[in-house]
Amino acid sequence: QHPKQPWPYPEVVAHRGGGTLAPENTLAGFREGMRYGYRAAECDVKLSADNVCFLLHDDTVGRTSNGQGEARAKTMAELSVLDAGGWKGAAYAGEALPTLANVAAYCRAQGMLLNIEIKPCPGRFEETGRIVAREAARLWAGAAVPPLLSSFEIDALRAAQAAAPALPRAFLCEAIPADWREILAELDCMALHCDHETLTEALARDIKQAGYQLLCYTVNDPARARVLLGWGVDSLCTDRLDLLPAR
Ligand code: G3P
Ligand code: MG
Repeated sequence: QHPKQPWPYPEVVAHRGGGTLAPENTLAGFREGMRYGYRAAECDVKLSADNVCFLLHDDTVGRTSNGQGEARAKTMAELSVLDAGGWKGAAYAGEALPTLANVAAYCRAQGMLLNIEIKPCPGRFEETGRIVAREAARLWAGAAVPPLLSSFEIDALRAAQAAAPALPRAFLCEAIPADWREILAELDCMALHCDHETLTEALARDIKQAGYQLLCYTVNDPARARVLLGWGVDSLCTDRLDLLPAR
């Protein structure tokens, strides 16, 4: 059995702030989550060229902002003038690319729980894990519920573990690898986050029986959500806050 205190996952977690109802990884997304009564959100965090932790999914800024090029080559001053909302609709024009500090202030003020997905730029796995974990520990100092760190990158999680051992961690994967027990134990994770399409009922049972918490992404279909919850999945990360009611 896993000895740690469980992370208080709600049944649903808003993917990238507010799912697809608002521009991803912006404060407008988090506001949308609040509007739907969500109590937790996931977001993607990486490092700017000058090592500021900020929110962005892709390696490049072009899909979700009016800028162009590699995120890792830009300083936070350059990133902060981009419009990260206009691509989603005129109502969101001028939304900024938030820093992790912006999001921490918002989440702590609103009582929103946060799953920080450490999403390193290419070649920056270790330093991103270390700097994001250290910054998260600082920003949430004294909080009743710490942020949950997750990553697909084992090197990033290992660095996060060394930098801020007290912060809870989840190993994030698409298909669950055969050696999931060893990975979770080595990284001292409390949870596994997997693509719901690769999960089976037997694997869900094994993971839960081993004492770990289990989240599936990205679940947008209410019927599928019921199946997964029936298998013992603790939490579902979703784009469709309008279809999966907050619980
Ligand atoms: O953390 C779950 C999910 O966000 C992982 O996939 O590509 O949306 O970051 P992605
Ligand atoms: Mg993510």
